Amino acid sequence: MEILRTLDELRAYRHKISGYVGLVPTMGALHEGHLSLIKKSFSDNDVTIVSIFVNPAQFAPHEDFDSYPRQLEEDCKKLDRLNVDAVWAPSMAEIYPKDFHTSVKVSGITEILEGSFRPHFFEGVTTIVNKLFMQIQPDRAYFGEKDYQQLKVIQKMVRDLNIAVDVIGCPIVRDDQGLALSSRNAYLSDEQISIAQRLNKIIKQAGDVLKAGSIKQAELALKDELMSSGFTKVDYVALRNAYDLSEVYGLQDDIEIRVLVAAYLGPVRLIDNMALN
Ligand code: PAF
Repeated sequence: MEILRTLDELRAYRHKISGYVGLVPTMGALHEGHLSLIKKSFSDNDVTIVSIFVNPAQFAPHEDFDSYPRQLEEDCKKLDRLNVDAVWAPSMAEIYPKDFHTSVKVSGITEILEGSFRPHFFEGVTTIVNKLFMQIQPDRAYFGEKDYQQLKVIQKMVRDLNIAVDVIGCPIVRDDQGLALSSRNAYLSDEQISIAQRLNKIIKQAGDVLKAGSIKQAELALKDELMSSGFTKVDYVALRNAYDLSEVYGLQDDIEIRVLVAAYLGPVRLIDNMALN
């Protein structure tokens, strides 16, 4: 496995390889969720490149950029064992040199849900993902559905800018209690983990809850349930059109609904989502 640290090394590597190239963009602290994206890339492509870069542009000053788990050596060992072809692990200066002044911004879909609570987030994500696409020129790129809105935003960016990359969403990987795997789960105590494991069970009830009332009533009922289950704050519970996250006003045969949640356990913010069954 090649570990590429500079743009020159990446360019030389890119010229050397041929066939379909799959990219799995990550911020490291790899878990089974990332590994499932890598396995999907193996099955679709000739070459799989994993990027590891904790991107400061998608963190607000009060967020966890400094404490975000960093374990490059351990991650590289995992990736080597899996037979990943190359890791792109650039330095900060390589990605954001001092004179860096450009960003990529998608409007509309970025201003709701996550975007209304983390206004800096999506512009940081679309800028770095666009840079990774330009640097690596993959044929396909793989993103987990756990960050469902992020996936939709990146798909929109690729459509709007005619970027020749297939953006592929992969199912959420969960622990045996249904908790969506996330690098940030490392921040949770054992007691908090058992509360966090209720999150998926609560949103699974959305279909039944909706039978008893409107979309708004269902959202409020699920929010109450989260608060009484031990979550300390709920940013949103939203039942939205799964395609573009626009509002829905009830069940409709031709519209798939996605239930999306962001809730806190103390300082730790968790997100999850699932298709309404
Ligand atoms: O989902 C993530 O880990 C990050 O947002 C991404 C896509 C790697 C961009 O930094």
